[in-house]
Amino acid sequence: MIYNLTKEMKYEIGSVVISKEQIQLKVAELANAFEEYYKDELPILMPVLTGSFIFAADFVRNLKSYPAIRFIKCSSYGSNTISSGQVVVEGLRDIDICCKRVLVMEDIIDTGYTFAALANELKKHNPKELKTMALFDKPSRRKINFIADFIGFTVPDEFLVGYGLDYNEQYRNLPQVHNLREVE
Ligand code: IMP
Ligand code: MG
Repeated sequence: MIYNLTKEMKYEIGSVVISKEQIQLKVAELANAFEEYYKDELPILMPVLTGSFIFAADFVRNLKSYPAIRFIKCSSYGSNTISSGQVVVEGLRDIDICCKRVLVMEDIIDTGYTFAALANELKKHNPKELKTMALFDKPSRRKINFIADFIGFTVPDEFLVGYGLDYNEQYRNLPQVHNLREVE
């Protein structure tokens, strides 16, 4: 989803908002919180493509336990200025989550529509427990009430790129998070 950005303008990466070191520390903290919470029974770890692929890869390598890892893909359709709340989940058909613990991992929560719709969809498959983790959270932009169970950073109301976050599918591979600036 894109906001405050127009197709007519050109953008380039701006200043660093969250450094590589800050991210690595936070990912390790989240992994510790995971180990503590799931010490009795591991969940199926369910990262949401595409944005969470880098976070998930770093996160799982900080774990001492061995949860099953199953990626799903989530697309929301609507105008290109705001996500719609209508979410199509791909990849769920061959994953049996009935009576199992599930932890969904997202890159960022913005309006909250994607995560809330995804949670509704997953609940139809009767997981034993459903928890959510997001590395970045923008509570100031929330359109519906949604709070993730595990949150990395609360970030300002800016469009961010890097560490999995994209603008037009670019910049996901930046090791730190930047904002965008207009090219004059
Ligand atoms: P929501 O449905 O509005 O919560 O949006 C969630 C999705 O929007 C995320 O999974 C991202 O793909 C995308 N998104 C939200 N904010 C940003 C941002 O600042 N940069 C890049 N993608 C974003
Ligand atoms: Mg995404």
